[in-house]
Amino acid sequence: MSRLQHFGWFLARGFGPQGWGYPSWEWDYDWTRPDVYQEAARTLEQAGFDLVIIEDAPSLGSPETIDLRVRHAFGGPKHDPLLLAPYLFQATRHLGVVPTVNPAAVLPYTAARQFATLQHLSGHRLGLNVVTDTGSARHFSDAPQLGHDEAYDRAEEWLAGVRSLWRSWDEGALVADRGSDVYADGTRMRAVRHRGDHFAFDGPLNALPFEHGEPAIVSPGGSGRGLAFAGANSDVQLALAPLTEQSVRAYRSRIHEAAVGAGRRPDDIKILFAIQPVLTGSAEEADRIVAASADPDDTVLLQIARKQSSDLETDLTALDLDRPLDPSIFGGHVSRGSIQRLIGDRGEDAPLRAHLAALARAGRISDRSGFVGTAEEFADLIEELGDWGNDGVLLWGDFHPVTLHRTLDELVPVLRRRGILRREFADGGLQANLRSF
Ligand SMILES: Cc1cc2nc3c(=O)[nH]c(=O)nc-3n(C[C@H](O)[C@H](O)[C@H](O)COP(=O)(O)O)c2cc1C
Repeated sequence: MSRLQHFGWFLARGFGPQGWGYPSWEWDYDWTRPDVYQEAARTLEQAGFDLVIIEDAPSLGSPETIDLRVRHAFGGPKHDPLLLAPYLFQATRHLGVVPTVNPAAVLPYTAARQFATLQHLSGHRLGLNVVTDTGSARHFSDAPQLGHDEAYDRAEEWLAGVRSLWRSWDEGALVADRGSDVYADGTRMRAVRHRGDHFAFDGPLNALPFEHGEPAIVSPGGSGRGLAFAGANSDVQLALAPLTEQSVRAYRSRIHEAAVGAGRRPDDIKILFAIQPVLTGSAEEADRIVAASADPDDTVLLQIARKQSSDLETDLTALDLDRPLDPSIFGGHVSRGSIQRLIGDRGEDAPLRAHLAALARAGRISDRSGFVGTAEEFADLIEELGDWGNDGVLLWGDFHPVTLHRTLDELVPVLRRRGILRREFADGGLQANLRSF
C-alpha cells in the first residue's frame, strides 16, 4: 500500500570536487563556487525532497596518509559546509539544508549563536548532522583523543548545552512592543551557567528564540551508543542497515525504545534509510550491469582500492591482489567497523582481490540482491519499506547535476504517481515538513 514518505539526499562527497573521477567532471563546473550546489538544491526542491545532508571531514587525516586522502579527492579537499548553507537557502524556499558539525570543532556558545542566526536567515530550514568522529580532534586542541563512547558523551553534553542556550529566552522575553518602546525583557532570560566534563560556558544567548522550532538534529551513528543517541536526541536518523523486513524493523524499534526511554514519542524521530540506487532505463540494461560486475577487471579493482585506501587511511593500492589481506596493516585509529565491512565474512585467508571484487559486485533491486534496477522496481522497494513502517529514504551521491538527473528524472514521476513523494511543502520550515506526515 502506498503512502507518503520523506525523501532526502546525502551529499556524500561533502563540499568537495563534484564529479572528479567521472566523465561528468568535463562539464567544467567549478566546485568551489556556489552555482553547482544551487542548481542541485533547486532540482531537489522541485522533486519534493525535504532535506539535503552535507557530509564533512574537517581533517585530511593522519600526517602519514594525507596523500591517500587527496590524490583522488576522496577525503579532501573539502570546504566548510556550514558556509555553503546560506547559498543553498538563497537558491530555494522549502528545502532543508543540513551541514555536518562535529562537537569537537565548535564551542557550544559559538555553535548555538551561528545556528540560531542561520535558522532565522533560512526561514527555519536548518538542520545539523551531529557526528562523533574523533580523528580530527588534534586540529582543535591538544587534549587527548576521546574513545568512541566518550565522543558520544561529549556530543550529548554539547547538544544539551546548545539547546539550553537556544532556550535561554523564556516565553515573553521577546516583547517588540512599539507602544511601550520595549524590544525585549531581560528579566525573562536565563543566565545558563554550564560547567561540564567537556565544556564550560555561560548564557543567555545573544540571538532571538525560534518561532517554528529549533534546527533539526540529524545523527548517523549505527552502534548501540549511536542508536541510543538518536532516540534520545535526534529529529532524523541517517540509517544504514540491510533492507530486509527483519533488519529494518529491528533497527527502528531499537531507536524507538531509546526515544521512549528518554521521554519522547517514537514519531518524534524520522528514520531515513540511506540507499545509492543505480537506475536504468530497462530491466535488460540492469541485468547487463549486474552481469558485467560479477567478474571485475583489475582497473575496476584498483579504483575501489583507491577509495578504500582513502577511507581506511591505509594504502591498499600497492598490495598484491592475490595475497591475503593482513589486518595488522591497519593502524589502531582505523574504524574496526570499516575494516569489517571490507573483509566481510570471507575471513582473513581470502585474497585482497576477493574483498575488492565483493565491493564491485552489483545486484538487482527486483530480487533484493542489490540496488540496480528501473525506477518502477526501486519504487516497489520504497513502497515495501513503507509497509514495514518506514519513514523515508536518503538517496546517496554527489551533487553534480548529472548524478541528480540520472537518479531522479524517471524516479520522481513514478513516486509521485504512486503517492509516495510529496507534491507540496508545509509552512514553517524543515521541522514542519518532517512532521507533516
Ligand atoms: C552514514 C554515516 C554518515 C556519517 N557521516 C559523517 C560525516 O559526514 N562526518 C563525520 O565526521 N563523521 C560521519 N560519520 C561518523 C559518525 O558520526 C560516527 O563517528 C561513526 O559512525 C562511529 O559511530 P557509530 O559506531 O555509532 O557508527 C558518519 C557515519 C555514518 C554511519
